[in-house]
Amino acid sequence: MEQKLNSLLDQARGQLDRITKGGAPGEVQKQLEDFRIRYLGRKGEFSTIMQQLGTIPVEERPRVGQLANTVKAEIEKCFEDQKKALVGTAGVNGAGFVDLSLPGRVQECGRLHPVTQIMTEVCGIFEALGFSVAEGPDVEHDYYNFEALNIPAHHPARDMHDTFYVSESILLRTHTSPMQARIMEDQQPPLRVIAPGKVYRCDSDITHTPMFHQVEGFLVDTKVSFADLKGILTVFTQKMFDTNLALRFRPSFFPFTEPSAEVDIACVICGGSGCRVCKQTGWLEILGAGMIDPEVFKMVGYDPERYSGFAFGLGIERIAMLKYGINDIRLYYENDLRFLSQF
Ligand code: FA5
Repeated sequence: MEQKLNSLLDQARGQLDRITKGGAPGEVQKQLEDFRIRYLGRKGEFSTIMQQLGTIPVEERPRVGQLANTVKAEIEKCFEDQKKALVGTAGVNGAGFVDLSLPGRVQECGRLHPVTQIMTEVCGIFEALGFSVAEGPDVEHDYYNFEALNIPAHHPARDMHDTFYVSESILLRTHTSPMQARIMEDQQPPLRVIAPGKVYRCDSDITHTPMFHQVEGFLVDTKVSFADLKGILTVFTQKMFDTNLALRFRPSFFPFTEPSAEVDIACVICGGSGCRVCKQTGWLEILGAGMIDPEVFKMVGYDPERYSGFAFGLGIERIAMLKYGINDIRLYYENDLRFLSQF
């Protein structure tokens, strides 16, 4: 056994000497690793010899054991020395062993949420049409969210909003329309404004989320007509969807506009044939709109005989669904990177 140990040491030294610089990148590292496994690994040659220690006479064991320790320590030292001597052969001198054949480290790159991307695109289209951007608070007074928009207390229209109340007179805004009252109270016509932001409603299904984004738009001047509203919204949908997507104005009711309409676009998920997203109608509602009600003008001190205007409120998530062909709005807010990183 002593002989076996001594010749193992000679053999190991010889093999280490043969590992030299040069060759393909990574070759030296591979040879060093092969050496380590062959001589020093758990199933390597040294371990195999040591398994025979129990077969030799008891009185010889201490001496052989001591030799084994010395041989192992020597092989380890030679291995470490050779490793140090070869440092830098694969690339960076003296800066540690660099294996250029290893794949590089991928730098993870964040990106904008799809809803943010669509919001930016929507605002960009209206800015190009001459609208300026204004922002307002998410936590809003009952007055601006309802009263100033011709929705007094106990008005049945309040039921449609499924409001989250903070206190009796403070709430999470249910739409971006309070920005109409806030801006008109502050500025005189002509006005051409969009107000993007988050809104909240106690609502959740495949086309509704409790928090979603709207972009309010309104234009006030003399002689503004419903034809102007139709024109602006038609230009918007054409730019947004890059096609002559079918657009439908459906008569509707909002207390702050008269006449009012809801605007649908042909469902891009099913191409108009009917699916669960469009509830088999072939259409998906993207916005509410209308001519600003004279009562709203009176509330902010504008003369309704002199001024007229239109307003609209777009649902950003709905537009993102149609743009990307997403069949469940809730996917936007589940924080699943496999979904989000596609955009
Ligand atoms: C309003 O919120 C009105 N303020 C819009 C308006 C503005 C009308 C100015 C007239 C003048 P509506 O409740 O229909 O209207 O919502 C507008 C859009 O928001 C809808 O067309 C839809 O696209 C989107 N929306 C409504 N509820 C949700 C929800 N829970 N989740 C996601 N999107 C929604």
